[in-house]
Amino acid sequence: MCKHACGMIRYMNKTVIITGASRGIGRACALRFAKAGFYLVINSITGGDNLNETKNLCLDAGAAGVLPVQGDVSDPSFADALIELALKHFGRIDTLINNAGISFVGLIQDTDNDIWQKIINTNLSSVHYCTRAAIPHMLEQKAGHIINISSVWGNVGASCEVAYSASKGGINAYTKAAAKELAPSGISVNAIACGCIDTDMNKCFSEDDLKTLEEEIPFGRMGTPDEVAEMVFKITESPKYLTGQIITFDGGWM
Ligand SMILES: NC(=O)c1ccc[n+]([C@@H]2O[C@H](COP(=O)([O-])OP(=O)(O)OC[C@H]3O[C@@H](n4cnc5c(N)ncnc54)[C@H](OP(=O)(O)O)[C@@H]3O)[C@@H](O)[C@H]2O)c1
Repeated sequence: MCKHACGMIRYMNKTVIITGASRGIGRACALRFAKAGFYLVINSITGGDNLNETKNLCLDAGAAGVLPVQGDVSDPSFADALIELALKHFGRIDTLINNAGISFVGLIQDTDNDIWQKIINTNLSSVHYCTRAAIPHMLEQKAGHIINISSVWGNVGASCEVAYSASKGGINAYTKAAAKELAPSGISVNAIACGCIDTDMNKCFSEDDLKTLEEEIPFGRMGTPDEVAEMVFKITESPKYLTGQIITFDGGWM
C-alpha cells in the first residue's frame, strides 16, 4: 500500500474480479477500484464495446492492469475459467464482487420455466459458481473479500418480481452461510441490498413511474452507481470482523 501524488491510497498488486462490469453498478465498482490502483478482471455476458470502454476508463483512472473477459457467469464452467484467468494473469484474488444480474417484471403466472431458470441462474447460481471457484485460492491466502450485490427486494419481496426477489433473498442467505463457513479462514462475505439505483436496469419503467418511486424514497432520488461502488470499496477497507452482513443501501426507502 502506498500514497499516490493525488493523496489517494493505492493498493499495490491487489486484484479484484467484478462480474457484470460493462455498465451500471459493475462499471462504477471497476472505476473505484481502478482509482485505488488495483489489477482488475472485468466481465460481462456480451463483452464488446461496453466492456472495452470500461477497460479504457479504468486504465485512465489508474488501474494497474485490466483483463476484460466476456462470458456468462451462470455457466459453471465459465465461472471456473474466469477465476483461472484471473490467477493466470495477476497471480492473486483479493476481492470478488458478484454483481452480474438481470431482472424480470411480470405476474407469477407469466414467470415461465425459462424466465425462472434464467433469473435464478444468472443472479443466484452465478454467485455460488464464482465464489466456489475463488475460495481455494482465498483459503491459501487466508484472506479475501466477497461482496454480493443484492437488492432490497431480497429483504422484503416485490410484487410482480417473484423470481428476482427469490434470487436476491437467496443471495442474502448464501452470504450469511458463507460468512460463517469462511470467517475462520480470514475471508469476509457481505452483501449490499441496493434500493433503486439509476442504471439501465430501471429503464423498463416510465418516467412517471420513476418519479412516483423517487417520491417514496426519503432521500428524494435514486442512488447512483458511484455511491454503491463507494460502499463496496468501503467494505474492503473495513475491519475483517465485518462479515455476514446484508447492508441495506436505499436512501432510507425500506
Ligand atoms: N439498478 C438497481 O436499481 C438495482 C437495485 C438492486 C440491485 N441491483 C443489482 O445490481 C447488480 C447490477 O445491476 P445494474 O443495475 O448495474 O444493471 P445493468 O446496468 O443492467 O448491468 C447489468 C450487468 O450485468 C451483466 N450481465 C447480465 N447477465 C450476465 C451474465 N449471465 N454473465 C455475466 N454478466 C452478465 C451485464 O452485461 P452486458 O452489458 O454484457 O449485458 C451488465 O454488465 C445486479 O445484480 C442487480 O440485480 C440493481
